[in-house]
Amino acid sequence: MALPAAFLDELRARTPLSALIGRRVRLARSGRNWKGNCPFHQEHTPSFYVYDDHFHCFGCGAHGDAVGFVMQTQGLDFREAVDLLAREAGLDVPRPNAEAAAAERRRHDLGSVLTAAATAFQRRLLLPEGARALSYLRGRGLSEETIRRFGLGYAPGRGALTAELGREGIEPSLLVEAGLLRQDDGGGRPFELFFERVMFPIRDRRGAVISFGGRTLGDGQPKYLNGPETALFSKRRTLYGLDLARAAARAGAPVIVAEGYMDVIALHQGGFAGAVAPLGTALTAEQMEELWRLAPEPVLCFDADAAGRAASIRAADAALPMLAPERTLRIAILPEGQDPDALIREQGSAAFQRVLDAASPLADALYGLLRAAAPLASPEQRAAFRARLEAAAARIDDRGLAREYRQALLDRFFAENRRPQGLVAGGRPRAAGGWTQSPAGRPGPLGPKPARPGASRATPTPEEAASERLRLLAAILLHHPSLVGGIEEQWQQIDLPPGLAPLREAVLAWAESRGHEGLALDSAGLIAHLHDIGLGAVSKRVLASSPFPLPVFALPDAVSAEAEAGWWHIFGLLHHDRLDAEIEAAQRDFAEQPDERTQRRLLALAEARERLRQGETDDAGA
Ligand code: UTP
Ligand code: MN
Repeated sequence: MALPAAFLDELRARTPLSALIGRRVRLARSGRNWKGNCPFHQEHTPSFYVYDDHFHCFGCGAHGDAVGFVMQTQGLDFREAVDLLAREAGLDVPRPNAEAAAAERRRHDLGSVLTAAATAFQRRLLLPEGARALSYLRGRGLSEETIRRFGLGYAPGRGALTAELGREGIEPSLLVEAGLLRQDDGGGRPFELFFERVMFPIRDRRGAVISFGGRTLGDGQPKYLNGPETALFSKRRTLYGLDLARAAARAGAPVIVAEGYMDVIALHQGGFAGAVAPLGTALTAEQMEELWRLAPEPVLCFDADAAGRAASIRAADAALPMLAPERTLRIAILPEGQDPDALIREQGSAAFQRVLDAASPLADALYGLLRAAAPLASPEQRAAFRARLEAAAARIDDRGLAREYRQALLDRFFAENRRPQGLVAGGRPRAAGGWTQSPAGRPGPLGPKPARPGASRATPTPEEAASERLRLLAAILLHHPSLVGGIEEQWQQIDLPPGLAPLREAVLAWAESRGHEGLALDSAGLIAHLHDIGLGAVSKRVLASSPFPLPVFALPDAVSAEAEAGWWHIFGLLHHDRLDAEIEAAQRDFAEQPDERTQRRLLALAEARERLRQGETDDAGA
């Protein structure tokens, strides 16, 4: 027996193709998709592309979905590949039995019933009885083309659909199962759910009709009626417009989540063909997964009013646990009192494009949303707000990203709540207090932190702390140039201010040429060289003991391992997530080649991470 289509859909939905293929092929982002060297033929430049639901090699023509990939790479037959993927996805493969086969046939039947109903509604929209509905739709600005594209129709008076489909041999019981008729408990005759309404077919991701929404023509209640849950239709898994949006997203259109039917339709007609909407409920986890299969950063549109704000908080909150570096959201806020439909109709597509362009990254939106609800007048209120920010970040499962969020949210909190302090009028930096400054004595390279010497101790502002970190990265290397070879790539990735960037270039160039000549990388030699090429003043500033004294691990007499761990600690303070990636890479290197250098690097990284963990409440890191 063939496996049920619904099961295979579920299996594919639960098997992210890029992750599956990424285990065998090194993939790199290519726009919304991924590419890499084809595993099915020899090549040196990537022509193997991975899309949300299939892969394709433009070199050798290899092509398929998740199941096909497993079959082709592991030499399995269809059933074996399905079994393997189902195990990984935690799904049970339906056992072939008569009952299952009957259910599958039934779903198939339901599909044709819904298609027949959609055709009937569409036809009636163009008959005299549908004239009012058609002029309603035209009156709302929809073109013939749009009406056709979305398959809009008209449900006539009660009894008409049952009669019409009955003539095609479709039993009322099937119409009940399809969600078109309702059977009340009393046992009377089933009656039509939709009558005298404008009909919006709801289609699955592949374009098959699975249910309907119906709108009253006037002010009747409810304004919109959605079909009930059926074997084919699950509201929480469905996004209106998805079938059309998938193709658009693949062609590069932004993926937009609006609130309702008419918004989606108006957006498509206005040129935003990546628009979808949930069906009268908040976005579910399943719907978000579906969105992320289309794009790494869909934009959620909300009204400016209180209800819109509440809805965006709910959406952000629901998304948090699922966020990852390539799975995030942006939040767009519509002008007061407008929905996308009204905005486009009254002010044109450009007005909506401006709303889209102004969408905030989720971290910013989240801060704003939480902040809007939090008075910060007293220490208690500030502490409570800070705790809410930390709690929000902690809801993110991806640990690296959770740390980045925590940092970003707290940065904003501190920037907003900085006590007026420290910087003396005239802009002279405060003398005392460094964040990773070690007390005299034997503090170990990275702490422990000096005890807080009371409230009088100044803490650097986030900006000061950030620039101090950039300075320290350079200072460590000026005193310990032998470390340059091991951090070159990571140092290069850091954005440096114009003052420091030339110094970095010079240090890297010097280390490389000395290395070529087989000469030692000594600190005195480097500093002299920098002086010779006109960078003496910059190096002096880098090595100065103000505005904050250099920590022990950045001093010339630190042992090299301390300096190295110190460098990574600072690096980690700047980029939590990258430190984790470095550790993973170092672990792999060490497993492959367990020499002393790799070991030292791994230890330094581990030490840095440990310090970061202990120091997470570091003021400068906040
Ligand atoms: P709105 O009332 O904002 O819909 O509800 P809208 O699309 O702007 O409606 P128009 O412009 O007056 O035609 C947003 C969505 O909430 C669901 C529908 O999915 C609708 O598109 N809804 C609304 C219902 O399910 N039932 C209702 O009675 C109202
Ligand atoms: Mn509307």
